[in-house]
Amino acid sequence: MKPQLILLGAPGAGKGTQAARLVKEFGYNHISTGDLLRGEVAKGTELGLRVKQVMDSGDLVDDQLVLDLLKANCDLSNKVYIFDGFPRNLEQAKALEEHVLKGTPSKAVNFDMNIDVLVERITNRRIAQKSGEIYNLLTRPPKVEGKCDVSGEDLIHRKDDNEDTVRNRMNVFKSANGPVVDYYKAEGRLINIDAAQEPDAVFKTLSEVLS
Ligand code: AP5
Repeated sequence: MKPQLILLGAPGAGKGTQAARLVKEFGYNHISTGDLLRGEVAKGTELGLRVKQVMDSGDLVDDQLVLDLLKANCDLSNKVYIFDGFPRNLEQAKALEEHVLKGTPSKAVNFDMNIDVLVERITNRRIAQKSGEIYNLLTRPPKVEGKCDVSGEDLIHRKDDNEDTVRNRMNVFKSANGPVVDYYKAEGRLINIDAAQEPDAVFKTLSEVLS
């Protein structure tokens, strides 16, 4: 059986873009804590409103809340997952192992790149919620402005993809990611990928590593 995959990397490093391709070509199930949290926000509950405030600022949502959401939305009994956006700190990495993976074989893929160029990547991102397609106004524009090529739906500019929030997300990432990478490295489970390459080249590298 394929290993469970844990995607690590800065906001905008391409985790969601590559996850979509891995689902199509390798049969993985994709679980993104960012998407789960946006789902809570969309419900408009009191909890959703609190989560929204944190996400709009670019800070991390409470560890236990995110872990509970994750646990409620995955079942490892006969499925292989891509964990996208979890863990974000050492506590989450240990919790993922203890409460979710429980020794199931897994690899952590580190999307490694200079984060200075990522602000431009993210502020130009547009997403199609229903089809899951991810566009970029500079590098992967839609054929018709503002519309998804696949579904025709309106494209969304995420509220936290503005420059100020993105800079805070980068700072949060810089302060918490190092120990996570060290944790998987010490366990012999870390795979480093050069995420500054073109998306097709990143996918080719990933495919070679996973085959
Ligand atoms: P989340 O939704 O997880 O966002 P993120 O980690 O900041 O990651 P992104 O979705 O922004 O980036 P990505 O790497 O998927 O990039 P993408 O492929 O789209 O989290 C949002 C918020 O939720 C957090 O700030 C936090 O508040 C909360 N949260 C989530 N998880 C949490 C947790 N575990 N604990 C606590 N809080 C949590 O690509 C980006 C753009 O670049 C696109 O336009 C794409 O077309 C383009 N692109 C992709 N690859 C390439 C390439 N190789 N070359 C050029 N352009 C590329």
